Amino acid sequence: MSNYHIKHLEEYYQVYRKSVREPENFWEEVAEEHFMWQRKWDNVLSWDFTKPEVKWFEGAQLNITENCIDRHLATRGDKTAILFEPNDPKEAAEHITYKQLYERVNQFANVLKEQGIKKGDRVCIYLPMIPELAISVLACARIGAIHSVVFAGFSSTALSTRINDSDCKMVITSDGSYRGAKTIDLKGIVDEALNDCTCVETVLVAKRINSDINMKSGRDKWLQPLLDHASSDCEAELMDAEDPLFILYTSGSTGQPKGMVHTTAGYMVYTAYTFKNAFQYKENDVYWCTADIGWITGHSYIVYGPLANGATTVMFEGVPSYPDFGRFWEIVEKHKVNQFYTAPTAIRALAKQGLELVEKYDLSTLKVLGSVGEPINEEAWHWYNDNVGKKKSPIVDTWWQTETGGVMITPIPFVTPTKPTYATLPFIGIQPALMDENGKELKGNQVDGRLCVKFPWPSMARTIWGNHQRYKDTYFSAYENMYFTGDGALRDEVGYYRITGRVDDVIIVSGHNLGTAPIEDAINEHPAVAESAIVGFPHDVKGNALYGYVILKDVGETRDHANLRNEINQIITEHIGPIAKLDKIQFTQGLPKTRSGKIMRRILRKIAQGDTSNLGDTSTLLNPEVVQDIMDNVL
Ligand code: PRX
Repeated sequence: MSNYHIKHLEEYYQVYRKSVREPENFWEEVAEEHFMWQRKWDNVLSWDFTKPEVKWFEGAQLNITENCIDRHLATRGDKTAILFEPNDPKEAAEHITYKQLYERVNQFANVLKEQGIKKGDRVCIYLPMIPELAISVLACARIGAIHSVVFAGFSSTALSTRINDSDCKMVITSDGSYRGAKTIDLKGIVDEALNDCTCVETVLVAKRINSDINMKSGRDKWLQPLLDHASSDCEAELMDAEDPLFILYTSGSTGQPKGMVHTTAGYMVYTAYTFKNAFQYKENDVYWCTADIGWITGHSYIVYGPLANGATTVMFEGVPSYPDFGRFWEIVEKHKVNQFYTAPTAIRALAKQGLELVEKYDLSTLKVLGSVGEPINEEAWHWYNDNVGKKKSPIVDTWWQTETGGVMITPIPFVTPTKPTYATLPFIGIQPALMDENGKELKGNQVDGRLCVKFPWPSMARTIWGNHQRYKDTYFSAYENMYFTGDGALRDEVGYYRITGRVDDVIIVSGHNLGTAPIEDAINEHPAVAESAIVGFPHDVKGNALYGYVILKDVGETRDHANLRNEINQIITEHIGPIAKLDKIQFTQGLPKTRSGKIMRRILRKIAQGDTSNLGDTSTLLNPEVVQDIMDNVL
């Protein structure tokens, strides 16, 4: 069907118009012709943003793994599904064919069943980027268990919070992980986390680094012997279209992380369709997304989207700097990668290295370059375009979120003319709106506002696990009948969108969403700390870095500030993970507050960014005098 694969700009506009005028017909056609259903839907879409409630393909029954694996067996059985590139370049890459993936997923699914996991149970996956990660995700989906993958860089406290929030019965982990020259004791982190979790009955442990670890009898089980005895056939569980497929946590500006719930049919249809178009994937291409499966990018565009299209998807265990900063390019050459998808922070880090590391490798197979996770600045865009794409591979700057499930605003390569720093046009079926601060929609072009979406799309998150009210408050209460993204954006004279950044208290550091509140809570646990406030400031590699203003309890505190700074970062590492460490910590006597006691972050942000020319009227503050003091002592 022509609609499935957009090939030129006229066609984009034509298909886009159809997707907006007749969304139900449009998505029905896509769903009908490209997927395997055990039962078709009774109703394509029902929705009500005031509740909010959204249902796609109601009445349909399916299993996403039949779509990602089984239906490819006849024609692509011997094709590589997952191409695993280990941390150490001397270790051989592993090509897992669709046939082998079928067997391994089914064996794993049988192990899960044998261990008492049933449809609807939550399973926490805390694994490095090894094949078992993708396989365990698919094994959960095979039997209808809800996976909750936690990025293996999170600390034990962050892990236990997530395990408890969704009441996981099982944790799947490994004896450890490789990260460049280092090894990490993942199982030790799990053990610590489980001191605070009573819901977990079983821990399955994959062997990766062959370390000598502690196995708690009755709870911990080595994975391999169980797999060795499991059958490689496991009937796929019949899932309703709106049955939850997974939970994935994302930071909020306040409170606990939010467990975004994604459901089965709509998520499958949309991630598959966007993958095909945003990367122009062709049958024998090798596609590589450098994200971790612990984030939404990995869920949608390493696992589900590519496999639903029968693609070859590369999974890389390591880091861009090991053994040297040429590793990404070495892998592109080695596996003849055609589509390469990464984050601006990685591009900026690599751009700082000598060009000879790029030029050493043959990158001529590259056709499409992707960017995701944060705004890509002009310099990084040009470096990527000139040196990696050699000005012939379009850059697809894909804007989306954990909550949206799939790409929302993006150029379609070879179709949409690109423009540096612009995510360009809404994807098929997506109806963005820019709103002013009074809740009025800004019509026409050359406007700047808050980015919302007016109409449901198939892969939107349906709720926050265990807290539907918070889902409503966070996303559907700022503007009437709209999904609010939390981002600001502008629309240029031709209707292209440029994302300008978060408008709430989420800060994106190296492409990771960090809420200020949980970090402040962690800092405030330090016995010497009375109060703290975190803001972001520009950083040439990370995009943003964190700046902390900290009030100490005892004004006469004589302890060495350098030590205190280390201790504060240590607490943050324990509570959240090293990604949330502060780059700068300023000790201060006070924080600027409104008369109602709210911290004026706008002022703190400006000071941290070194832009004090226009702080606005500070005279209405409760304590205007602290502003000058903070400015005088800025780091
Ligand atoms: O602020 C936007 C930014 O990342 C946020 C979503 O983060 P997360 O849920 O972790 O998902 C990241 C991967 C999809 C957004 O609200 N963001 C993501 N992509 C872009 C972006 N900002 C600008 N340009 C992008 N391409």
